[in-house]
Amino acid sequence: MIAAGSDYTGWFRSPAMWPVLEGYIARHFASVTVWSGACATGEEAYSIAMMLTELTVDGTVLASDVSEHSVLHALRGAYDASLVERDVALGRLSRRRVSRWMYRDGDYYRVAPQIRERVFYSVADLGTVVPPVCDLAFVRNAWRHLPIDRQQHLADELREALASPDARLVIAGADLFTATLRDSTPPALAQAFVEAEHPLIWKLR
Ligand SMILES: C[S@@+](CC[C@H](N)C(=O)[O-])C[C@H]1O[C@@H](n2cnc3c(N)ncnc32)[C@H](O)[C@@H]1O
Repeated sequence: MIAAGSDYTGWFRSPAMWPVLEGYIARHFASVTVWSGACATGEEAYSIAMMLTELTVDGTVLASDVSEHSVLHALRGAYDASLVERDVALGRLSRRRVSRWMYRDGDYYRVAPQIRERVFYSVADLGTVVPPVCDLAFVRNAWRHLPIDRQQHLADELREALASPDARLVIAGADLFTATLRDSTPPALAQAFVEAEHPLIWKLR
């Protein structure tokens, strides 16, 4: 098992990217399959499911993480209410989304059933996983923690998974930045992918 880096995640993390993704999905897909390959405690996968529901785009989110503990948390779909309220206060999560897609249950907010039913969780290691065939593959804030040979392996696997012309890989700025600093170019990314609509959205060469 290769597990490295922090577990930090958040609702609609990297806010500038979401409108770009929304536009891309609305232009290209009536139905979409998304893979969140390092889903942590579920905020990323549920954010995607909320976005798809708001766009009235069909489809599912397949989410996995190497941490069984995190996946169990994600499956429960219950989040400390004080942390959700903090994210609202900090502008990371809109009050409107909380009202629409969560409900209060004591000290927790629970994700609404119509969002939860779009997300399917499993435990999987990015170092060995065979990614599902999908339209968007999220490997944000995890790509950079994989050893270079594992990045290369995953890029090769994603060649199969992201075979459709409109399919894209989504990473985080830090995945790119760290690799760029360390190696001049992020080798597996540079060899397999080319930057597309946005610096964080990549398509296969
Ligand atoms: C910093 S969090 C990022 C979560 C989310 N993708 C985001 O951007 O907010 C990194 C996650 O990667 C997971 N992870 C680390 N190594 C992994 C591996 N080899 N396979 C799958 N998940 C891994 C950790 O368990 C953690 O949940």
